[in-house]
Amino acid sequence: MADKRKTGSKSAAVWPNRFKGQVAVVTGAASGLGQGIALRLAREGAKVALLDLNPERLRNTVRDFKRTGLAAFPFVTDVSDDASVRSQMAQIEQQLGPPDLVVHSAGIVGPTNTFIVDYPVEAFDQIYAVNLRGSFLMTKYAVAAMLPRKSGSILLIASVAGKEGNPMMCGYSSTKAGVIGLVKGVAKEYAEQGITVNGLAPAVVMTEMVRQTAPEQVAYMTAKIPMKRLGTIEEVAAMATFIVSRECSFATGFTFDLTGGRSTY
Ligand SMILES: NC(=O)c1ccc[n+]([C@@H]2O[C@H](COP(=O)([O-])OP(=O)(O)OC[C@H]3O[C@@H](n4cnc5c(N)ncnc54)[C@H](O)[C@@H]3O)[C@@H](O)[C@H]2O)c1
Repeated sequence: MADKRKTGSKSAAVWPNRFKGQVAVVTGAASGLGQGIALRLAREGAKVALLDLNPERLRNTVRDFKRTGLAAFPFVTDVSDDASVRSQMAQIEQQLGPPDLVVHSAGIVGPTNTFIVDYPVEAFDQIYAVNLRGSFLMTKYAVAAMLPRKSGSILLIASVAGKEGNPMMCGYSSTKAGVIGLVKGVAKEYAEQGITVNGLAPAVVMTEMVRQTAPEQVAYMTAKIPMKRLGTIEEVAAMATFIVSRECSFATGFTFDLTGGRSTY
């Protein structure tokens, strides 16, 4: 049997009751990593609210979940918009109950293979709004919803680009570094309140976002991975679900690594 450390895991060893009775909120849930994480949470018993900006992909995702016998609850949300996040988080609480865990995966890549002198200001404003302002808003309303019960786990999907700084994508690298700073600071605010805030920094995993990235940029990022392969959505889902599970009870403020050896901190 192939060693999954060499090939990358494509299957999930599901623990059916790990999240039984828990309410999960996943953003960016209509595609890629968010979708994979939401699927695993649902398979392991969570009631999952799927948040995404794209209504059509959200509908398709709910249909796919239903086909495999899993319930999912769609909420069209723009994570960069205060009113949208506030009202959808209130709606989720009313419909499903207060969230036990929130995984924030929605994000955009912005211009790639682009020097800062050529990087449009409007593109920077947009990537800031989605990646950093969106992380701030999701964390703000997630913490507010968890505080009354003094219990909950929040996971923000950052990126190795935020730890290491990928050249030619300054909007992405800097907003993801901001997400890591947000995790470190906010985690300490609530460390005594039963709420954990962590990050996850993957290297390249083939999703729609990577398909929208300049091939030269993908080649640069892939060449930096000592394992000489891409990560898989299943590997991201495995680590993400561990981080928000009750087993991961003594870690907060940390951005976990998932880079095949690229960053070792
Ligand atoms: N794929 C990778 O190699 C990789 C590596 C490191 C980090 N990440 C991060 O993982 C997260 C998920 O990326 P992915 O690869 O699954 O990308 P993806 O493009 O497949 O999925 C991103 C999802 O976010 C949604 N989204 C975009 N803007 C939104 C908004 N304003 N409000 C709500 N939803 C919005 C999109 O509609 C999409 O469904 C991102 O934060 C990304 O930066 C990805």
